[in-house]
Amino acid sequence: MMRHRFLAPLLAAGLLACGAARAENTLTPLHFQSDGWRGSIDKAAAQRGFAVYQSVCASCHGMSGLHYRDLEGIGLTPEQVAGIAASIKLADGSAATPDSLFKPPGAVNMGGAVPPDLGAIVAQRPGGTRYVYEFLTGFGPAPDGMTLLPGHFYNRAFPGGQVSMPNVLRDNAVTYADGTKASAAQEAADVAEFLTWSSDPDLAERHIIGLRTVIFFALLAMVALAAKRRIWREEG
Ligand code: HEC
Repeated sequence: MMRHRFLAPLLAAGLLACGAARAENTLTPLHFQSDGWRGSIDKAAAQRGFAVYQSVCASCHGMSGLHYRDLEGIGLTPEQVAGIAASIKLADGSAATPDSLFKPPGAVNMGGAVPPDLGAIVAQRPGGTRYVYEFLTGFGPAPDGMTLLPGHFYNRAFPGGQVSMPNVLRDNAVTYADGTKASAAQEAADVAEFLTWSSDPDLAERHIIGLRTVIFFALLAMVALAAKRRIWREEG
C-alpha cells in the first residue's frame, strides 16, 4: 500500500524532470521535438528559428506560400504577428500586414547558384531537419588536397563538399527574446525546427489523427473478438 502511494508522485516528478531537461537542452545530444512518429513542433524553438530566418536568411531565401499570420501556428499572438509584419517593408515601400505573403528576397545569384526557397526544404532533402542542421553547422576549412571552385565554400554535409552559400551563422547573430543563449549551433537547430514546421505545419495534428486511428482499430478488433467469442459460444 505504502509503496503505491509514493509511486505515482515519484513517477510524475520523474516524467516532469525528463520533460524539462529535454526542453532545455536540445543540442547535447542533438534532439528535435519534431523527430519520430510522435513528433510535434517545439514552438519555442520554432519562434527562435523564425527570428534567425528573418534576420539572417531572408535576404537570400524566400519562403513562398507563407503569410505572416501563419506564424500564429508556432504560438505567436496576433499582436506579435502584427508587430513583425509592420516592421517589414515590402518592395513597393509599404509595410507588410499579417495577410501579406512572406517578403521574397531580391534576385540573388551567387556565381550561378540561386538560393532555393526554404518553405519546404526539410521535406525536399534526405535527412530533413537533421540535414539542415548539419548543413548549417557543416562549414569549415577544406580538407587537404581539396580544391574549391571559385566562389565556393567547404561544407562537409553538402553533397560534393562545396557550396556557393557562405557560412552565415555565428554566435550571437541574433538576440533571442526568450533569453536562450544564441550559439551558432543553437541558431542552426532552431532555424531547422522552424523550417520543419513550414514544411509540415500540420505535423502534430496528423500524428494525433494517426494515434486516434490506431486506438480506433484496436477497439474495433476487441469488439470483433468479443463478438466472435459470443457467436461461437452460442453455436456450441
Ligand atoms: C548570402 C545569401 C545567403 C544567405 C544569407 C543564406 N543562404 Fe542558404 N543558400 C544560398 C545559396 C546561393 C544557396 C545555393 C547553394 C548551392 O546550390 O551551391 C543556398 C542553399 C541553401 C540550402 C540548400 C542546401 C542544399 O542541400 O541544396 C539551405 C538548406 C539553406 N541555404 C539554408 C539557409 C539558411 C537556414 C540560412 C539562414 C540561416 C541561409 N541559408 C542563408 C545563399 C544564402
